[in-house]
Amino acid sequence: MKKLWGGRFQSQGNAATNAFGASISFDYKLAEEDIKGSIAHVTMLATCGIVSESEKEDIIAGLQRIEEKIKAQTFEFSLAQEDIHLNIEQALHEEIGPVAGKLHTARSRNDQVATDMHLYLKKEVLAIIDKLVHLQTTLVKKADKHVDTLMPGYTHLQHAQPISFAHHLLAYYNMFKRDYERLQESIKRIDISPLGCAALAGTTFPIDRELTADLLGFSHLYSNSMDGVSDRDFIVEFLSNSSLIMVHLSRLCEELILWSSFEYQFIEMDDAYATGSSIMPQKKNPDYAELIRGKSGRVFGHLFGLLTVLKGTPLAYNKDLQEDKEGMFDTVQTISMSLEIMAGMIETMTVKKDKMAQSTETDFSNATELADYLVTKGIPFREAHEIVGKLVYDCLQKEIFLQDIPLSAYQEIAETIDNSVYNVLEARTAMNRRNSFGGTGSEQVRKAVQVAKKDLRLED
Ligand code: ARG
Repeated sequence: MKKLWGGRFQSQGNAATNAFGASISFDYKLAEEDIKGSIAHVTMLATCGIVSESEKEDIIAGLQRIEEKIKAQTFEFSLAQEDIHLNIEQALHEEIGPVAGKLHTARSRNDQVATDMHLYLKKEVLAIIDKLVHLQTTLVKKADKHVDTLMPGYTHLQHAQPISFAHHLLAYYNMFKRDYERLQESIKRIDISPLGCAALAGTTFPIDRELTADLLGFSHLYSNSMDGVSDRDFIVEFLSNSSLIMVHLSRLCEELILWSSFEYQFIEMDDAYATGSSIMPQKKNPDYAELIRGKSGRVFGHLFGLLTVLKGTPLAYNKDLQEDKEGMFDTVQTISMSLEIMAGMIETMTVKKDKMAQSTETDFSNATELADYLVTKGIPFREAHEIVGKLVYDCLQKEIFLQDIPLSAYQEIAETIDNSVYNVLEARTAMNRRNSFGGTGSEQVRKAVQVAKKDLRLED
């Protein structure tokens, strides 16, 4: 088939180059945006007297018929027409004849593809934001139920100090809140119209770029035509924001996986979020959490892929830029699905409160409490630290815990130690006394839940 740009050529390339250069196998996803962009463009051309009203109407009617065919999946995308732009333009010729040729006046595929990408990403980022808010909501609702649920807090994956399970969940809520803010802020850099930048230098036709921007719902225009057709920063930023979301999801997945292991038994995944083994009948595997953790790799890969594509490309458009698409499409899909699955896992998992609490009672995560308590009895902290360290060592030899040491032994350290030491050693006391701002004390956590609910506009 003859190429729409074929005038300068004597032959049509070969099957290998045609297949290698074509992007239609993936950029068909831009069909809706491409048609929207073309309708805005031709509307503007008519308003500016560059095409007639009736030409505009014919072109729009043709584009609408093509859109219907694409929606009904009766449109045949052709590799010979390279990409979505040429596929639609060729189809328009077949629909309405030579007047179709007027659509591409004062436009290039370079500003056309950039426009499509901005429209597409704006729509998808808004949808991803909704999914992120849903996950935040799920975390806060779960946290609301578990302010008083004790669990061991870890550093170095060793029991450190007892914490509230809600506090742990809200740590992730806060990470996702920053991710939400980053996505929101990025919209202003996506919401810019490149349409009318043409190939690279603008156009000789008296176009109205503000009109097309308005028609397409863009808030701003690229003020430099070369930048407008070459910019892919907005995609890099999306991939970077997505990478951070995947980092946060992946860390949470790792914890869900640990917590559902036999060693922890802190949670049990709902059946819908686990799989069995084909050989070991007892297995209940947290596959989906593992898969999200694994999928983080491809998102980071797309970020590095695009950075590397862009590095060293001279201005303005180069075909390298066609490589901006697959990673972006894949990231949109990966992030959307991962957020949805994560929200489902959190919402439906069973929290085994008793196991969590038990784990804080059969450990030494109250050692800091004892050291602090000795300080109140007049012992300098460093000395108290040393004393408690030795007590922990002795306990380990005797296979007992700090709360099992008799009062008489405590009174050998300081005469003034009384029965209140056992209250201090309780995990719940330890948790609730951490009442500093941002700490795990239930008063603080209850406040944090309220603040989060207000942020998310959730009912009490
Ligand atoms: N399929 C191309 C892309 O995605 C569209 C732009 C082509 N422009 C060109 N001058 N060859 O980048």
